[in-house]
Amino acid sequence: MISSRVSGFYRWSLGERARWVARWGGPSDGVAAERVNILCGPNGLDLTRADQMVENVIGLHGLPLGVALNFVINGRDVLVPMAVEEPSVIAGASFAARLVREGGGFQTDSSDSEMIGQIQVIDVVDVWSARFKLLSAREELLQCANECDPVIVGLGGGARDLEVRVLEGTPIGAMLVVHLVFDCLDAMGANTVNTVCEALAPRIEEMTGGRVGLRILSNLADRRLARARCMIPVEALDTDDFAGEQVARGIVEAWALASVDPYRAATHNKGIMNGVDAVVVATGNDWRAIEAGAHAYAAQSGRYCSLSAWERDNQGNLIGTLEMPMAVGIVGGATRVHPVAGLAVELLGVQSARELAEVIVAVGLAQNLAALRALATEGIQRGHMRLHARQVALAVGAAEHEVASVVERMIAEGHVRPDRAEAILAEHRREVNPGSHQRGQ
Ligand code: MEV
Repeated sequence: MISSRVSGFYRWSLGERARWVARWGGPSDGVAAERVNILCGPNGLDLTRADQMVENVIGLHGLPLGVALNFVINGRDVLVPMAVEEPSVIAGASFAARLVREGGGFQTDSSDSEMIGQIQVIDVVDVWSARFKLLSAREELLQCANECDPVIVGLGGGARDLEVRVLEGTPIGAMLVVHLVFDCLDAMGANTVNTVCEALAPRIEEMTGGRVGLRILSNLADRRLARARCMIPVEALDTDDFAGEQVARGIVEAWALASVDPYRAATHNKGIMNGVDAVVVATGNDWRAIEAGAHAYAAQSGRYCSLSAWERDNQGNLIGTLEMPMAVGIVGGATRVHPVAGLAVELLGVQSARELAEVIVAVGLAQNLAALRALATEGIQRGHMRLHARQVALAVGAAEHEVASVVERMIAEGHVRPDRAEAILAEHRREVNPGSHQRGQ
């Protein structure tokens, strides 16, 4: 297996990078060529396929796909495809993964792929005895749920548990909500769980004498958690301007604020989601579901707080942990339909949805480390500026061969803004082609 530790990757041409990535995992020449065609050639998502995916299709909307390097997860070198529009995210994840590599890489773990389906029961005369009846019929209801999807049951998944909650103080009075816990194995599971909830509804109405309302999965997937841990030796955090000790302390101090203050926690978690979402999108998973689950989980104590934690061990090394819901699949959905998403899963080398969930959480932790390290040292803007300046230059119409000059001049003068980019671009064009403005070009 080739190492994911590559220095100077960003200096290679795009074609060289794609060809190198296509060789990841040692495929045959034919497979590698096909991968290049999917990444940068004609075999990515096309209009015909897109037209089958959603309604009223009128075109395609692309996103840059990059790879984060340097990741070691549970002793395995991993190449991480990330689809994201924000500059610095992929560089940040790769940089942080390099630091974590010095401490042996990420360790990860996850729970089973259990999703919760909710069935709302209204107009129940006696909610507590209705709850009792439902719980007494647990086996029958689980069996009924399993009959909906014999394939997943045959593979070892299926209904695991039934919980019945009484919600007394709702705006329309007391109601019941039944939670069906269902192990979705390698599927994200929304369709299966929704189908099961709909199938159980009539029997639940019969048993309770009530009326079933909603029948839908919950995105607060707190039975489907993935977690990652990393250790960074304090010396690995040394920079030209800051001692590792200072950086480690700064990171823990930054986290301390996020652990108590929702205003900071929202931004802290946004940094985590920069990494998480980029892999979720690259692999064709439902990033809205992941976002909803993450933020609901962050608020589960009653106060919204940080998803990750940072502390020091007794040798002073920096230790990071992140645990969050991660309802992703590797079968079904866009993962199988979108050629690039399928390739992203293949490149990750994951064999199960749980393994994918664990990689994603490791990337979230890396992204959090990159952000906190920058915030605790030089600030976020310095590293951001050059990449941001590139986007600003492109946005005002600089051609590829003009971008570097516009960027350099904006950085040198310390103003990265569209008005300056426009003025500098005009000036640059006059210098390169002095007569052009007189000819009205
Ligand atoms: C920017 O996309 C993300 C950060 O704001 C995250 C953070 O503040 O931790 C840098």
